[in-house]
Amino acid sequence: MTTRIIGTGSALPEEVITNDDMAKIVDTSDEWISSRTGIRQRKLVGRDENVVTLGTEAARKALEDSGTAPEEIDLVLTATSSSEVYFPNVACQIQGNLHLTNAVAMDVSAACSGFLFVLHIAHAYIQSGVYRKILLVGAETLSRLIDWEDRTTCVLFGDGAGACVVEAQETGIIDAVLHSDGGMGHVLTGSAAALVTPKSEALAAHPLHMDGQAVFKFAVKKVPECIQELLERNQVEADDVKWYLLHQANKRIIQSVAKRMHQPEEKFPVNLEYYGNTSAASIPILLDEMYHSGQIKRGDRCILSGFGAGLTWGAALLDW
Ligand code: ACO
Repeated sequence: MTTRIIGTGSALPEEVITNDDMAKIVDTSDEWISSRTGIRQRKLVGRDENVVTLGTEAARKALEDSGTAPEEIDLVLTATSSSEVYFPNVACQIQGNLHLTNAVAMDVSAACSGFLFVLHIAHAYIQSGVYRKILLVGAETLSRLIDWEDRTTCVLFGDGAGACVVEAQETGIIDAVLHSDGGMGHVLTGSAAALVTPKSEALAAHPLHMDGQAVFKFAVKKVPECIQELLERNQVEADDVKWYLLHQANKRIIQSVAKRMHQPEEKFPVNLEYYGNTSAASIPILLDEMYHSGQIKRGDRCILSGFGAGLTWGAALLDW
């Protein structure tokens, strides 16, 4: 038995902030942001929205899409780094909202790699026979974590959530791999204090901090390496993979990975121009869009790959 994605859903806030809007907040321009990142706009949560509201909406859609009744879900795993409360965890709140009465629920913190981490954990549970049907959610509101006076980071992120229902089936995930390097944690850090303290105190504490060039170098080296690791140990040729679905941080990172893999860019779909970097939500949002637009079809061989703070990174090889 392996793990198959049987339904997807996503939720994005209404409010659109374009690069020109960003230029009214910090000293930047559409030209600088779009040429360096590919991002043209992002969507940000309003007062009454948070990771739980977005995550619940995405999860509800994934349940409907997969034809799964709430009581069928055995486990809810939420990947998030931007919850406003430490407990109850986001997964429990989503469980309560959707009456997933037979599920256990937990959060996983692995920043932008979070969706790969929850997918891998779900796969291990399914392979071991402990659980059969699992709800995976990636939900982030990094707009509440960033320093809105720091132009080097605030232009990069957006809010959103994506969800998938996975179940034990004969086909699906072929193999998956995760990595962490805590020794490099300092290149990308964020503090929960920024979520809960008044702005001036939050900035004095630890706002989101990123060494952009170090993160760029890490991503373009480690992502191709771990994809290659997965392909080699499963004797799959890079050419035989139809889609490479990467964390949507930066278009230049995605283009660079495609080049290093000697694969055409068309195999690496990009939607970050509309949403910015939605961290753990970016891969499930992309999956939802591609699945429901008919781009990705049953049987398509795919690589998913995420990378982020920790540092953390990973990939999964699957037949859709
Ligand atoms: N607008 C205008 N100018 C800016 C901005 C901005 N928003 N931000 C920085 N600059 C300026 C800098 O101050 C600097 O000016 P200076 O030369 O006078 O000192 C100049 O632009 C160049 O700055 P760099 O940091 O060297 O710019 P770089 O070309 O490295 O691009 C970027 C920065 C886009 C962040 C790049 O390093 C990158 O893509 N890194 C990858 C990190 C990433 O994508 N992180 C996403 C989150 S992490 C994750 O998802 C895993």
